[in-house]
Amino acid sequence: MEPSKSLREAVAAMAGPGAELRYEEAPRQAMQRPMPKDCWAVNACARPAGHWGDSEWYDLQLERRLPLVGPMLNEVVCALPPLGNGRVCDVGCGTGRCAVEIRKAYLRCTLCLLDADKDRVETAKNRVAEPVEVIVEPFVVGAPSLPGAPYDCVTLVLALRHSTRPAPHYAERLGLPLHTGTVEESYRAALTTIFCSLRPGGTLLIGDQVAAGHPSVYNQCKLLEDCGFEHVDIAWRDRDFFVIGAAAPADDPEPSWFRGEGGPRLPA
Ligand SMILES: C[S@@+](CC[C@H](N)C(=O)[O-])C[C@H]1O[C@@H](n2cnc3c(N)ncnc32)[C@H](O)[C@@H]1O
Repeated sequence: MEPSKSLREAVAAMAGPGAELRYEEAPRQAMQRPMPKDCWAVNACARPAGHWGDSEWYDLQLERRLPLVGPMLNEVVCALPPLGNGRVCDVGCGTGRCAVEIRKAYLRCTLCLLDADKDRVETAKNRVAEPVEVIVEPFVVGAPSLPGAPYDCVTLVLALRHSTRPAPHYAERLGLPLHTGTVEESYRAALTTIFCSLRPGGTLLIGDQVAAGHPSVYNQCKLLEDCGFEHVDIAWRDRDFFVIGAAAPADDPEPSWFRGEGGPRLPA
C-alpha cells in the first residue's frame, strides 16, 4: 500500500530539499508474513500471540508475559476471610494456580476445582493437597447455581472474563455455550449464578485484567450490587489488574438447599 500524500509531505519536509524519496514494499511485506501456528517463533512475538491453549506453556509463560498476575493472585488470597473448614469453589481453576496458593494459607478448607477442561483439572488435582473435590463441568452463565453449590467462598481468577465471553480456543475445544446478548447481560447472568451459589455471608473474590469490551472495574462493582451482593469493594488494583471482593447477604432467608428441598438461593 502506497503511503498517503500527507505522510509523503511530512517525510519530504523532514528530509529537506534535494532528498530522493523512495517507497519499498518488500520490507513491509516481510513483516506481514503469516505467523506459523506451531512454531517457537510465536514465543518471540508480542502478546496476544502464544500457545495459550497448552497448559504447560501457559504455566511457564503466564507470569513472564503478564508480570502483575503474581501480585494479583497474592492479593486474592490475602483478601479472603479465614476459611476454616469451609468449601471454596475455584471457578475456571485451570492448572490450579489459585487453589495451590489458597491451600498454602488455609490447610483445612475443601477446595473444589471447577473447570470445563479435564486435563487442566487433572493437573490441578495433582498439585493441590487434600481435601479436594474435582468438578469437570462448565460454569454455565445464567444457570440457577454452580455445580456443587452451596459454597462458603467462590474465587474466579482470570476466569470471569473468559466465562462471559470465552476465547475461541476455549469455546471450540471445550464445547462451551456461546452467549447471545450484550457483554453486560452475560456479566449480570454470571454474577447472579454465583450469588445463588453462596451460603449466607459467603464471599466472592474476582481477580482479573481490564479488557476492551468488558465492564470497567467500577461497573463490575455496580453490577455486583445490582445482583444483590453486599460489601462490594476493590481490594487491590495495579494498572489493568484488579481484585474485587463481595459478600452474599448474611441475614437473608435460608436457601432451600439447607432445608433439603433442593434448588438454589433465589436471585436478588
Ligand atoms: C485464563 S485461564 C485461568 C486459569 C486459572 N484460574 C489461573 O489463574 O491460571 C481460564 C480458565 O477458565 C476455564 N474456563 C473458561 N470458560 C469456562 C467455563 N464456562 N466453565 C468452566 N471453565 C471455564 C478454562 O478452561 C481455563 O482453564
